[in-house]
Amino acid sequence: MNDFHFNTPGTIIFRTGSSGDTETYKSLIKAGRTLLVTDSTLQKLGIADKVQTALEGSGADVLVYDKVEPEPNAATVRDIAETAKGENVIQVIGLGGGSPMDVAKIASLMIPHPQPIESMYGVGQAEGVRLPLILIPTTAGTGSEGTPVAVVTGDDGEKSPVIGPQFICDSVILDAELTLALPPGVTAATGIDAMVHSIEAYTSGTRKNPVSDQLAIKALKLLHGNIRTAVMQGNNIDARGNMLVGSMMAGLAFANASVGAVHALAYPVGSQFHLSHGESNSVILVPVMRFNLSKAVSLYADLGREIIPECMEVSNMDAAGRLIEEMNRIVPEIGLKDRLSDYGIDEKNLDTLVDGALKQERILSYNIKSIDREDILNVYQSIL
Ligand SMILES: [Fe+2]
Repeated sequence: MNDFHFNTPGTIIFRTGSSGDTETYKSLIKAGRTLLVTDSTLQKLGIADKVQTALEGSGADVLVYDKVEPEPNAATVRDIAETAKGENVIQVIGLGGGSPMDVAKIASLMIPHPQPIESMYGVGQAEGVRLPLILIPTTAGTGSEGTPVAVVTGDDGEKSPVIGPQFICDSVILDAELTLALPPGVTAATGIDAMVHSIEAYTSGTRKNPVSDQLAIKALKLLHGNIRTAVMQGNNIDARGNMLVGSMMAGLAFANASVGAVHALAYPVGSQFHLSHGESNSVILVPVMRFNLSKAVSLYADLGREIIPECMEVSNMDAAGRLIEEMNRIVPEIGLKDRLSDYGIDEKNLDTLVDGALKQERILSYNIKSIDREDILNVYQSIL
């Protein structure tokens, strides 16, 4: 077995209603100034208020920052550091989808160790020890609550990941109630992103390990078994809970294995054509699986046998093929688009997309099968 290093949050709480319950926080926080990072939608829905009240019941003196926008900019990170200056913040809570959670991660480090955000971009560039950090996801998809990654949009408009072991939080609170209000389109797109995390972690070319493998398998089972129900019956609390746990497990899996070419090829599609992260992953998933098939037959077969009973009876190649076909079926079935042309992208846009994908060198290097400019172009062309 290869050496591996596995990082994980210290405490994971899964309970319906937990985020608005004072009891949840009693053993997790200290009395004192507490920064709650969220967005205006959660503020309007009253969810931020509920969490704030529960935190106050546990002795927290809450400073709310609710200005995190989708795909947050570096400017937002600077603004939050400025807001917290002189406030004697002793702990940070991130409440929301990936954007507020990612900003909360960076804030928890920047408040005690001011460092220009530009100098944090990349792997291991962020310095210092962060404040205690609790993350409360309100979508089932990014898995940010389990990862050491925070993504911001730099001043040049490029997606700039900040990656460091400090960004693995102390505690995760999973409350399925928070995801009941998610519209079907968001549920579908974020759910596919989480499934991509499982599939890419399990087939990672470099860092997969026995712990990430088990998490990826169980995550895919939970996500595959519940995504249709969560999309079609948004108020089904069991399906919502299963998606939330599946998404967190998939996050832990890819944080300790890696993602691969689906993410690398989806990034430029998302940033150049303003698709959400989940939408761009949904378009790219199947063609990249087809590209990777020759190197991933037995791994795809493993996953196929976990989620499709008929795969038990067939060869590895057939089981792998059935997994790909199942993913190909699910994407349109839950209302997501599966062609680049559905988003107004055509042949003349492909060169810039390929250039964008090639910039994701680090992620491409983790893909199970080596992939070059021509391969990337072929993948994009196959889904025009
Ligand atoms: Fe993702």
